Amino acid sequence: SAAEKGGWPSFMDKEIHEDPAAVADTLLGRFDEKGDIVLDEVRIEPDAFRSVDKIIVVACGTASYAGLVAKYAIEHWVRIPVEVELAHEFRYRDPILTPRTLVVAISQSGETMDTLMALRHAREQGSRVLAICNTQGATIPRESDAVLYTHAGPEIAVASTKAFVAQVTAAYLLGLYLAQVKGTMFRDEIHQVLDNLKAMPDKIQWVLDTQRESIERAAKRMLNAHSFLFLGRHVGYPVAMEGALKLKEIAYTFTEGFAAGELKHGPIALVDEGEPVVVIVPSARGRDTLHNKVISGIEEVKARGAYTIAVAEEGDPDAERYADIVFWRPACPTLLSPLVDVVPLQLFAMDMANLKGYDVDKPRNLAKSVTVE
Ligand code: G6P
Repeated sequence: SAAEKGGWPSFMDKEIHEDPAAVADTLLGRFDEKGDIVLDEVRIEPDAFRSVDKIIVVACGTASYAGLVAKYAIEHWVRIPVEVELAHEFRYRDPILTPRTLVVAISQSGETMDTLMALRHAREQGSRVLAICNTQGATIPRESDAVLYTHAGPEIAVASTKAFVAQVTAAYLLGLYLAQVKGTMFRDEIHQVLDNLKAMPDKIQWVLDTQRESIERAAKRMLNAHSFLFLGRHVGYPVAMEGALKLKEIAYTFTEGFAAGELKHGPIALVDEGEPVVVIVPSARGRDTLHNKVISGIEEVKARGAYTIAVAEEGDPDAERYADIVFWRPACPTLLSPLVDVVPLQLFAMDMANLKGYDVDKPRNLAKSVTVE
């Protein structure tokens, strides 16, 4: 009903606007008075966490892209290998699981059968499973050794939005907690990252408040496009895949998200006059090599006639110069940037679907939670 949508035209619109709260609420109550991380609800002893030598994230769809962001952050902070595997592939390839392996099952609903079967397999093999879940008391957290709840609130629209940013936030908390118990980062460093993380909800709000018009304009301009390519590098890579997924799910447009460095190894062959290419541009601060390489990717596709949309840090002169349209986001540390970069892509997919006259909350052929294998 209209009342349930809180005045928004759709649940998706409402839920995207709840992205800032989803991040803020997932951080709430996770610190002691000294600012150290306490994950009260996680029933795994610090000693057991200390012995973890490998993490495997299992998930499906949007949750798997949150897992891929987790890999970049956790490997950097904790210096242990993190694998990310689609839950339905995991169980059938005889994965290497030991008591020192921590399996992290990410699921909004907590009822996805593929993810549930993967965690059961991991536990049978003697590994511990920690669930990152948005639904209190769902099957996946009930069957796991521990749970870290995301506090995004109920998500009604089939295409996941606020749950994604909450999952990414929970994964950062888990990574920083591991760094804290394993001593792989200085306390000050952890506190610095946490301060940056606590500043993210306002940055997401800035995107929602200032980028609305240019996103809608881009959607109108691109309405008749038959396909889209999304490219990103480092943590921008999972964001590219998530942006591509949103557009397939609700606007029924053929999309492909890929790592920007792969462009010359294949996808560039697809680029033709007018082909829309969405590029997640890493921070321009310091003009590091990542930034320059992604910018040169924009130049390469433009030279072949592509129409380019960049998601870039406010004031990035190269994005301004090379992209046809820029969706701006505030400056933030690279590892945390998925929290802001994904937001314009959620809005863009919603605008495209709305302009095409589709039901953004209930896309054809999809279920909110897939409870069969
Ligand atoms: C379904 C939904 C997706 C979701 C995926 C995983 O395919 O349509 O939006 O990302 O399941 O769901 P989960 O509840 O496990 O996060």
